[in-house]
Amino acid sequence: MPASELPSIASLRPDFNWGVPTSSFQIEGATKEDGRGPSIWDVYGQNGDVKNHDTGDVACDHYHRYREDVALMKRLGVQAYRFSVAWPRVLPKGRGSANEPGLAFYDRLIDELLAAGIEPWLCLYHWDLPQALEDRGGWMNRESAAWFADYATLVAARYGDRVKRFATFNEPSIFSLFSRSYGKRDRASEDNFHRAIHHVNLAHGAAVDVLREKIPGVSIGGIHNCQPCRPSGSSEADAAAAARLNVYWNYAFPDPQCLGEYPSSMRAAIESHIRPGDMARIRRPLDWFGLNHYSPVYVKAQPNTMLGFEFGANPAGVPLTPIGWPIDPDLFGEKLRIVHQRYGLPVYVLENGYGNFDKPDETGAVVDPGRIEYLRLYIGAMNSAAADGVDVRGYFIWSLLDNFEWDSGYSHRFGLTYVDYASLRRIPKSSFSWYADLIKTARGGRR
Ligand code: FCB
Repeated sequence: MPASELPSIASLRPDFNWGVPTSSFQIEGATKEDGRGPSIWDVYGQNGDVKNHDTGDVACDHYHRYREDVALMKRLGVQAYRFSVAWPRVLPKGRGSANEPGLAFYDRLIDELLAAGIEPWLCLYHWDLPQALEDRGGWMNRESAAWFADYATLVAARYGDRVKRFATFNEPSIFSLFSRSYGKRDRASEDNFHRAIHHVNLAHGAAVDVLREKIPGVSIGGIHNCQPCRPSGSSEADAAAAARLNVYWNYAFPDPQCLGEYPSSMRAAIESHIRPGDMARIRRPLDWFGLNHYSPVYVKAQPNTMLGFEFGANPAGVPLTPIGWPIDPDLFGEKLRIVHQRYGLPVYVLENGYGNFDKPDETGAVVDPGRIEYLRLYIGAMNSAAADGVDVRGYFIWSLLDNFEWDSGYSHRFGLTYVDYASLRRIPKSSFSWYADLIKTARGGRR
Protein backbone atom coordinates (compact mmCIF):
# COMPACT_ATOMS: atom_id res chain seq x y z
CA MET A 1 0.00 0.00 0.00
CA PRO A 2 1.57 3.36 -0.94
CA ALA A 3 2.49 5.44 2.10
CA SER A 4 0.54 8.37 0.58
CA GLU A 5 -2.66 6.60 1.59
CA LEU A 6 -1.64 6.79 5.22
CA PRO A 7 -2.62 9.93 7.15
CA SER A 8 -0.04 12.36 8.40
CA ILE A 9 0.98 11.44 11.93
CA ALA A 10 3.93 13.80 12.16
CA SER A 11 2.54 15.67 15.17
CA LEU A 12 1.96 12.60 17.33
CA ARG A 13 4.35 11.79 20.17
CA PRO A 14 7.13 9.28 19.48
CA ASP A 15 5.78 7.08 22.30
CA PHE A 16 2.22 7.22 20.94
CA ASN A 17 0.18 4.08 21.73
CA TRP A 18 -1.57 2.28 18.89
CA GLY A 19 -4.11 -0.24 20.00
CA VAL A 20 -7.35 -2.11 19.61
CA PRO A 21 -10.17 -2.60 22.14
CA THR A 22 -12.80 -5.27 22.64
CA SER A 23 -15.18 -6.07 25.48
CA SER A 24 -15.96 -9.26 27.34
CA PHE A 25 -19.61 -9.78 26.46
CA GLN A 26 -19.12 -8.79 22.84
CA ILE A 27 -16.48 -11.42 22.05
CA GLU A 28 -16.03 -14.07 24.73
CA GLY A 29 -19.03 -16.40 24.34
CA ALA A 30 -18.82 -19.36 26.77
CA THR A 31 -21.50 -17.67 28.82
CA LYS A 32 -22.45 -20.85 30.64
CA GLU A 33 -18.98 -22.33 31.02
CA ASP A 34 -16.63 -22.74 33.95
CA GLY A 35 -18.99 -21.30 36.50
CA ARG A 36 -19.75 -17.92 34.88
CA GLY A 37 -22.97 -16.37 36.23
CA PRO A 38 -25.57 -14.64 34.03
CA SER A 39 -25.24 -10.98 33.15
CA ILE A 40 -27.99 -8.53 32.25
CA TRP A 41 -27.08 -8.95 28.59
CA ASP A 42 -27.67 -12.71 28.75
CA VAL A 43 -31.14 -11.94 30.02
CA TYR A 44 -31.84 -9.35 27.30
CA GLY A 45 -30.80 -12.01 24.77
CA GLN A 46 -33.14 -14.59 26.29
CA ASN A 47 -35.93 -12.04 26.20
CA GLY A 48 -35.37 -11.59 22.46
CA ASP A 49 -34.58 -7.92 23.02
CA VAL A 50 -31.73 -7.93 20.51
CA LYS A 51 -31.91 -7.70 16.73
CA ASN A 52 -32.41 -11.10 15.04
CA HIS A 53 -32.72 -12.63 18.54
CA ASP A 54 -28.92 -12.76 18.65
CA THR A 55 -27.27 -13.68 21.93
CA GLY A 56 -23.72 -13.59 23.29
CA ASP A 57 -23.68 -17.34 23.92
CA VAL A 58 -20.95 -18.01 21.37
CA ALA A 59 -20.04 -14.52 20.09
CA CYS A 60 -16.49 -14.78 18.66
CA ASP A 61 -15.66 -17.69 20.96
CA HIS A 62 -12.72 -15.66 22.20
CA TYR A 63 -12.84 -17.55 25.49
CA HIS A 64 -11.43 -20.54 23.62
CA ARG A 65 -9.67 -18.74 20.77
CA TYR A 66 -7.87 -15.99 22.68
CA ARG A 67 -4.45 -17.30 21.58
CA GLU A 68 -5.40 -16.90 17.94
CA ASP A 69 -6.71 -13.40 18.71
CA VAL A 70 -3.52 -12.36 20.48
CA ALA A 71 -1.58 -13.69 17.48
CA LEU A 72 -3.71 -11.43 15.26
CA MET A 73 -2.83 -8.45 17.45
CA LYS A 74 0.82 -9.32 17.21
CA ARG A 75 0.53 -9.40 13.44
CA LEU A 76 -1.19 -6.02 13.55
CA GLY A 77 1.71 -4.63 15.57
CA VAL A 78 -0.39 -2.93 18.26
CA GLN A 79 1.36 -1.94 21.46
CA ALA A 80 -1.80 -2.06 23.55
CA TYR A 81 -4.94 -4.14 23.90
CA ARG A 82 -7.90 -2.87 25.86
CA PHE A 83 -10.24 -5.60 27.09
CA SER A 84 -12.79 -5.85 29.86
CA VAL A 85 -13.19 -8.41 32.59
CA ALA A 86 -16.65 -9.96 32.76
CA TRP A 87 -17.73 -9.29 36.32
CA PRO A 88 -20.09 -12.33 36.32
CA ARG A 89 -17.27 -14.59 35.14
CA VAL A 90 -15.11 -13.80 38.16
CA LEU A 91 -17.95 -13.22 40.66
CA PRO A 92 -20.92 -15.22 39.37
CA LYS A 93 -23.33 -13.58 41.79
CA GLY A 94 -21.65 -10.20 41.59
CA ARG A 95 -20.37 -10.44 45.16
CA GLY A 96 -19.27 -13.12 47.57
CA SER A 97 -17.31 -16.14 46.35
CA ALA A 98 -14.93 -15.70 43.47
CA ASN A 99 -14.90 -18.16 40.58
CA GLU A 100 -11.38 -19.53 40.16
CA PRO A 101 -11.79 -20.86 36.58
CA GLY A 102 -13.09 -17.44 35.50
CA LEU A 103 -10.17 -15.66 37.14
CA ALA A 104 -7.78 -18.12 35.52
CA PHE A 105 -9.05 -17.24 32.05
CA TYR A 106 -7.83 -13.65 32.38
CA ASP A 107 -4.50 -14.91 33.77
CA ARG A 108 -4.03 -16.87 30.57
CA LEU A 109 -5.05 -13.93 28.41
CA ILE A 110 -2.80 -11.45 30.21
CA ASP A 111 0.18 -13.81 30.10
CA GLU A 112 -0.34 -14.41 26.39
CA LEU A 113 -0.45 -10.65 25.75
CA LEU A 114 2.68 -9.98 27.77
CA ALA A 115 4.51 -12.77 25.97
CA ALA A 116 3.52 -11.11 22.67
CA GLY A 117 4.85 -7.74 23.87
CA ILE A 118 1.37 -6.17 24.04
CA GLU A 119 0.37 -4.08 27.02
CA PRO A 120 -2.94 -5.14 28.62
CA TRP A 121 -5.36 -2.29 29.42
CA LEU A 122 -8.04 -3.62 31.71
CA CYS A 123 -11.51 -2.06 31.86
CA LEU A 124 -13.53 -3.15 34.88
CA TYR A 125 -16.98 -2.59 33.44
CA HIS A 126 -18.16 -2.78 29.87
CA TRP A 127 -21.86 -3.19 30.54
CA ASP A 128 -22.21 -6.86 31.57
CA LEU A 129 -23.56 -6.35 35.08
CA PRO A 130 -24.16 -9.62 36.97
CA GLN A 131 -27.89 -10.31 36.84
CA ALA A 132 -27.83 -11.13 40.58
CA LEU A 133 -26.94 -7.48 41.24
CA GLU A 134 -29.56 -6.19 38.82
CA ASP A 135 -32.04 -8.21 40.87
CA ARG A 136 -31.00 -6.11 43.87
CA GLY A 137 -31.66 -2.89 41.98
CA GLY A 138 -28.35 -2.72 40.10
CA TRP A 139 -26.99 0.81 39.82
CA MET A 140 -30.15 2.19 41.39
CA ASN A 141 -29.00 0.68 44.68
CA ARG A 142 -26.49 2.88 46.53
CA GLU A 143 -24.71 -0.27 47.70
CA SER A 144 -23.60 -0.78 44.10
CA ALA A 145 -20.59 1.46 44.79
CA ALA A 146 -19.42 -0.97 47.49
CA TRP A 147 -20.10 -4.02 45.27
CA PHE A 148 -18.01 -2.43 42.55
CA ALA A 149 -15.18 -1.58 44.98
CA ASP A 150 -15.10 -5.21 46.19
CA TYR A 151 -15.00 -6.46 42.62
CA ALA A 152 -12.17 -3.98 41.87
CA THR A 153 -10.29 -5.27 44.93
CA LEU A 154 -10.47 -8.83 43.61
CA VAL A 155 -9.31 -7.80 40.13
CA ALA A 156 -6.51 -5.62 41.47
CA ALA A 157 -5.21 -8.34 43.78
CA ARG A 158 -5.25 -10.94 41.03
CA TYR A 159 -3.87 -9.04 38.03
CA GLY A 160 -2.19 -5.92 39.49
CA ASP A 161 1.22 -7.61 39.36
CA ARG A 162 1.02 -7.69 35.55
CA VAL A 163 -1.54 -5.04 34.55
CA LYS A 164 -0.86 -1.37 35.25
CA ARG A 165 -3.44 0.35 33.03
CA PHE A 166 -6.93 0.33 34.40
CA ALA A 167 -10.19 1.95 33.37
CA THR A 168 -13.21 1.97 35.66
CA PHE A 169 -16.25 2.26 33.38
CA ASN A 170 -16.72 2.19 29.65
CA GLU A 171 -19.16 4.89 28.53
CA PRO A 172 -21.25 5.35 31.66
CA SER A 173 -23.44 7.89 29.86
CA ILE A 174 -24.41 5.40 27.17
CA PHE A 175 -25.32 2.48 29.41
CA SER A 176 -27.26 4.86 31.66
CA LEU A 177 -29.11 6.74 28.94
CA PHE A 178 -30.09 3.55 27.17
CA SER A 179 -30.53 1.26 30.16
CA ARG A 180 -33.59 -0.90 30.19
CA SER A 181 -34.04 -0.33 33.93
CA TYR A 182 -33.70 3.38 34.42
CA GLY A 183 -32.84 4.97 31.08
CA LYS A 184 -34.68 5.64 27.86
CA ARG A 185 -36.70 2.41 28.03
CA ASP A 186 -40.07 1.18 29.23
CA ARG A 187 -39.57 1.24 32.98
CA ALA A 188 -37.64 4.48 32.93
CA SER A 189 -38.11 7.08 35.60
CA GLU A 190 -36.25 10.35 35.71
CA ASP A 191 -35.56 10.00 39.40
CA ASN A 192 -34.12 6.49 39.05
CA PHE A 193 -32.04 7.68 36.13
CA HIS A 194 -30.43 10.39 38.29
CA ARG A 195 -30.04 7.99 41.18
CA ALA A 196 -28.17 5.53 38.95
CA ILE A 197 -25.94 8.26 37.51
CA HIS A 198 -24.85 9.25 40.98
CA HIS A 199 -24.20 5.68 42.11
CA VAL A 200 -22.12 4.89 39.03
CA ASN A 201 -20.06 8.00 39.75
CA LEU A 202 -19.60 6.89 43.37
CA ALA A 203 -18.58 3.42 42.16
CA HIS A 204 -16.01 5.00 39.85
CA GLY A 205 -14.44 6.98 42.72
CA ALA A 206 -14.42 3.98 45.04
CA ALA A 207 -12.71 1.79 42.41
CA VAL A 208 -10.07 4.45 41.69
CA ASP A 209 -9.14 4.43 45.39
CA VAL A 210 -8.89 0.64 45.49
CA LEU A 211 -6.74 0.45 42.37
CA ARG A 212 -4.46 3.25 43.56
CA GLU A 213 -3.99 1.63 46.95
CA LYS A 214 -3.42 -1.92 45.75
CA ILE A 215 -1.32 -1.50 42.61
CA PRO A 216 2.04 0.25 42.67
CA GLY A 217 2.62 2.29 39.51
CA VAL A 218 -0.99 2.01 38.35
CA SER A 219 -2.32 4.39 35.68
CA ILE A 220 -6.08 4.98 35.86
CA GLY A 221 -8.73 6.66 33.76
CA GLY A 222 -12.43 6.65 32.95
CA ILE A 223 -13.67 6.05 29.41
CA HIS A 224 -16.30 8.44 28.12
CA ASN A 225 -18.31 8.53 24.94
CA CYS A 226 -18.20 12.16 23.82
CA GLN A 227 -20.13 13.13 20.70
CA PRO A 228 -21.63 16.48 19.90
CA CYS A 229 -25.44 16.36 20.26
CA ARG A 230 -27.01 18.53 17.58
CA PRO A 231 -30.63 19.48 16.78
CA SER A 232 -31.92 17.72 13.70
CA GLY A 233 -34.42 20.48 12.88
CA SER A 234 -34.42 24.22 13.16
CA SER A 235 -37.09 24.58 15.87
CA GLU A 236 -36.32 25.95 19.32
CA ALA A 237 -37.72 22.74 20.81
CA ASP A 238 -35.17 20.66 18.88
CA ALA A 239 -32.37 22.97 20.00
CA ALA A 240 -33.48 22.63 23.62
CA ALA A 241 -33.72 18.83 23.34
CA ALA A 242 -30.21 18.66 21.89
CA ALA A 243 -28.85 20.93 24.62
CA ARG A 244 -30.46 18.77 27.31
CA LEU A 245 -29.18 15.52 25.87
CA ASN A 246 -25.73 17.05 25.47
CA VAL A 247 -25.51 17.51 29.24
CA TYR A 248 -26.38 13.89 30.04
CA TRP A 249 -24.44 12.35 27.19
CA ASN A 250 -21.26 14.38 27.44
CA TYR A 251 -20.91 15.85 30.93
CA ALA A 252 -22.94 13.97 33.61
CA PHE A 253 -20.03 11.60 34.29
CA PRO A 254 -16.74 13.27 33.34
CA ASP A 255 -17.62 16.55 35.07
CA PRO A 256 -18.13 15.07 38.55
CA GLN A 257 -15.27 12.58 38.06
CA CYS A 258 -12.74 15.14 36.85
CA LEU A 259 -14.07 18.49 38.17
CA GLY A 260 -16.04 17.45 41.25
CA GLU A 261 -19.41 18.89 40.22
CA TYR A 262 -22.46 18.07 38.16
CA PRO A 263 -23.39 20.35 35.28
CA SER A 264 -25.57 23.13 36.69
CA SER A 265 -28.64 22.25 34.60
CA MET A 266 -28.95 18.78 36.19
CA ARG A 267 -28.14 19.69 39.78
CA ALA A 268 -31.72 20.19 40.97
CA ALA A 269 -32.70 16.76 39.64
CA ILE A 270 -29.77 14.88 41.20
CA GLU A 271 -29.42 16.76 44.48
CA SER A 272 -31.64 14.50 46.56
CA HIS A 273 -29.30 11.55 45.90
CA ILE A 274 -26.13 13.32 46.99
CA ARG A 275 -24.94 12.83 50.57
CA PRO A 276 -22.32 14.93 52.34
CA GLY A 277 -18.82 14.03 51.13
CA ASP A 278 -20.03 12.32 47.95
CA MET A 279 -18.55 14.77 45.47
CA ALA A 280 -15.09 14.35 47.04
CA ARG A 281 -15.56 10.56 46.89
CA ILE A 282 -16.27 10.81 43.16
CA ARG A 283 -13.49 13.18 42.21
CA ARG A 284 -10.37 11.10 42.73
CA PRO A 285 -7.07 11.85 40.98
CA LEU A 286 -6.92 10.37 37.48
CA ASP A 287 -3.99 9.85 35.14
CA TRP A 288 -5.75 10.20 31.80
CA PHE A 289 -9.04 10.72 30.03
CA GLY A 290 -10.34 7.91 27.80
CA LEU A 291 -12.28 9.30 24.83
CA ASN A 292 -14.57 7.18 22.66
CA HIS A 293 -15.79 9.04 19.61
CA TYR A 294 -17.61 8.01 16.44
CA SER A 295 -19.88 10.72 15.08
CA PRO A 296 -22.22 13.55 16.06
CA VAL A 297 -25.78 12.63 17.01
CA TYR A 298 -28.82 14.52 15.72
CA VAL A 299 -31.91 14.67 17.92
CA LYS A 300 -35.33 16.20 17.94
CA ALA A 301 -37.78 17.08 20.67
CA GLN A 302 -40.10 14.29 21.81
CA PRO A 303 -42.07 15.44 24.86
CA ASN A 304 -43.40 11.93 25.59
CA THR A 305 -39.99 10.57 26.53
CA MET A 306 -38.14 10.75 29.82
CA LEU A 307 -35.56 13.30 28.71
CA GLY A 308 -37.68 14.87 25.99
CA PHE A 309 -35.68 13.73 22.97
CA GLU A 310 -35.50 11.09 20.27
CA PHE A 311 -33.03 10.53 17.50
CA GLY A 312 -33.82 12.66 14.47
CA ALA A 313 -32.82 12.65 10.84
CA ASN A 314 -29.26 13.46 9.91
CA PRO A 315 -29.03 16.73 7.96
CA ALA A 316 -29.21 16.29 4.21
CA GLY A 317 -25.88 15.91 2.50
CA VAL A 318 -23.94 14.70 5.56
CA PRO A 319 -21.83 11.69 4.55
CA LEU A 320 -22.78 8.54 6.45
CA THR A 321 -21.22 5.19 7.23
CA PRO A 322 -23.18 2.22 5.86
CA ILE A 323 -24.91 1.81 9.26
CA GLY A 324 -26.01 5.45 9.09
CA TRP A 325 -23.59 7.23 11.42
CA PRO A 326 -22.50 10.70 10.21
CA ILE A 327 -18.86 11.09 9.17
CA ASP A 328 -17.38 14.34 10.43
CA PRO A 329 -13.68 14.18 11.32
CA ASP A 330 -13.48 17.90 12.15
CA LEU A 331 -15.90 17.33 15.02
CA PHE A 332 -13.57 14.64 16.32
CA GLY A 333 -10.74 17.19 16.35
CA GLU A 334 -13.05 19.60 18.14
CA LYS A 335 -13.97 17.00 20.81
CA LEU A 336 -10.30 16.28 21.41
CA ARG A 337 -9.66 19.97 21.98
CA ILE A 338 -12.70 20.32 24.27
CA VAL A 339 -11.95 17.38 26.56
CA HIS A 340 -8.28 18.22 26.81
CA GLN A 341 -8.99 21.81 27.70
CA ARG A 342 -11.88 21.10 30.07
CA TYR A 343 -10.31 18.26 32.06
CA GLY A 344 -6.60 19.01 31.68
CA LEU A 345 -5.64 15.34 31.38
CA PRO A 346 -3.69 13.48 28.72
CA VAL A 347 -6.20 11.95 26.31
CA TYR A 348 -6.26 8.41 24.94
CA VAL A 349 -8.73 7.75 22.14
CA LEU A 350 -9.93 4.34 23.27
CA GLU A 351 -12.56 3.80 20.58
CA ASN A 352 -13.11 5.09 17.08
CA GLY A 353 -14.28 3.05 14.14
CA TYR A 354 -16.56 2.37 11.22
CA GLY A 355 -19.66 0.17 11.19
CA ASN A 356 -20.38 -1.72 8.00
CA PHE A 357 -22.02 -4.81 6.53
CA ASP A 358 -18.74 -6.34 5.35
CA LYS A 359 -18.79 -9.59 3.39
CA PRO A 360 -16.06 -11.68 1.81
CA ASP A 361 -15.83 -11.27 -1.98
CA GLU A 362 -15.70 -14.19 -4.42
CA THR A 363 -12.00 -14.70 -3.64
CA GLY A 364 -12.71 -14.87 0.09
CA ALA A 365 -11.07 -11.48 0.79
CA VAL A 366 -12.84 -8.77 2.79
CA VAL A 367 -12.10 -5.45 1.14
CA ASP A 368 -13.24 -2.36 3.08
CA PRO A 369 -12.00 0.87 1.49
CA GLY A 370 -14.75 2.89 3.20
CA ARG A 371 -13.36 1.97 6.62
CA ILE A 372 -9.81 2.82 5.55
CA GLU A 373 -10.94 6.23 4.31
CA TYR A 374 -12.85 6.92 7.54
CA LEU A 375 -9.84 5.97 9.67
CA ARG A 376 -7.49 8.01 7.47
CA LEU A 377 -9.65 11.12 7.93
CA TYR A 378 -10.13 10.64 11.69
CA ILE A 379 -6.47 9.92 12.39
CA GLY A 380 -5.62 12.98 10.28
CA ALA A 381 -7.96 15.10 12.41
CA MET A 382 -6.32 13.75 15.56
CA ASN A 383 -2.91 14.64 14.18
CA SER A 384 -4.12 18.22 13.55
CA ALA A 385 -5.43 18.44 17.11
CA ALA A 386 -2.04 17.25 18.38
CA ALA A 387 -0.37 19.91 16.24
CA ASP A 388 -2.57 22.47 18.04
CA GLY A 389 -1.28 21.26 21.40
CA VAL A 390 -3.81 18.64 22.44
CA ASP A 391 -1.98 16.07 24.56
CA VAL A 392 -3.27 12.95 22.83
CA ARG A 393 -1.26 9.83 23.61
CA GLY A 394 -3.00 6.89 22.03
CA TYR A 395 -5.56 5.72 19.50
CA PHE A 396 -7.47 2.42 19.55
CA ILE A 397 -9.61 1.25 16.61
CA TRP A 398 -12.90 -0.37 17.52
CA SER A 399 -12.46 -3.23 17.05
CA LEU A 400 -10.04 -6.10 16.64
CA LEU A 401 -12.91 -8.37 15.57
CA ASP A 402 -16.45 -8.12 14.31
CA ASN A 403 -18.54 -8.85 17.38
CA PHE A 404 -21.87 -8.68 19.20
CA GLU A 405 -22.91 -5.06 18.73
CA TRP A 406 -25.43 -4.79 21.58
CA ASP A 407 -28.97 -4.08 20.34
CA SER A 408 -27.82 -4.60 16.74
CA GLY A 409 -26.61 -8.13 17.48
CA TYR A 410 -24.17 -9.38 14.84
CA SER A 411 -25.64 -7.27 12.05
CA HIS A 412 -23.15 -4.39 12.36
CA ARG A 413 -19.50 -5.12 11.73
CA PHE A 414 -16.79 -2.85 13.14
CA GLY A 415 -13.84 -5.25 13.06
CA LEU A 416 -10.47 -4.95 11.37
CA THR A 417 -10.93 -8.72 11.24
CA TYR A 418 -14.01 -10.33 9.73
CA VAL A 419 -15.59 -13.12 11.78
CA ASP A 420 -17.53 -15.82 9.99
CA TYR A 421 -19.99 -16.59 12.76
CA ALA A 422 -20.82 -20.04 11.35
CA SER A 423 -17.25 -21.36 11.35
CA LEU A 424 -15.76 -18.70 13.69
CA ARG A 425 -12.96 -18.31 11.18
CA ARG A 426 -11.18 -14.94 11.36
CA ILE A 427 -10.32 -13.13 8.08
CA PRO A 428 -8.26 -9.93 8.40
CA LYS A 429 -9.87 -7.22 6.23
CA SER A 430 -7.91 -4.84 4.03
CA SER A 431 -8.16 -2.24 6.83
CA PHE A 432 -6.19 -4.66 9.01
CA SER A 433 -3.20 -4.51 6.63
CA TRP A 434 -3.62 -0.76 6.33
CA TYR A 435 -3.52 -0.30 10.11
CA ALA A 436 -0.54 -2.66 10.37
CA ASP A 437 1.29 -0.49 7.78
CA LEU A 438 0.40 2.67 9.64
CA ILE A 439 1.68 1.31 12.95
CA LYS A 440 4.85 0.05 11.32
CA THR A 441 5.45 3.45 9.75
CA ALA A 442 4.67 5.23 13.03
CA ARG A 443 7.13 3.06 14.89
CA GLY A 444 9.85 3.71 12.36
CA GLY A 445 9.58 0.30 10.76
CA ARG A 446 9.87 -1.45 14.12
CA ARG A 447 7.47 -4.18 15.10
C1 FCB B 1 -19.44 1.92 21.76
C2 FCB B 1 -19.27 0.74 22.70
C3 FCB B 1 -18.63 -0.46 22.06
C4 FCB B 1 -19.11 -0.68 20.65
C5 FCB B 1 -19.06 0.60 19.83
C6 FCB B 1 -19.50 0.45 18.40
O1 FCB B 1 -20.45 2.75 22.23
O2 FCB B 1 -18.46 1.11 23.80
O3 FCB B 1 -18.85 -1.56 22.90
O4 FCB B 1 -20.34 -1.26 20.63
O5 FCB B 1 -19.84 1.58 20.45
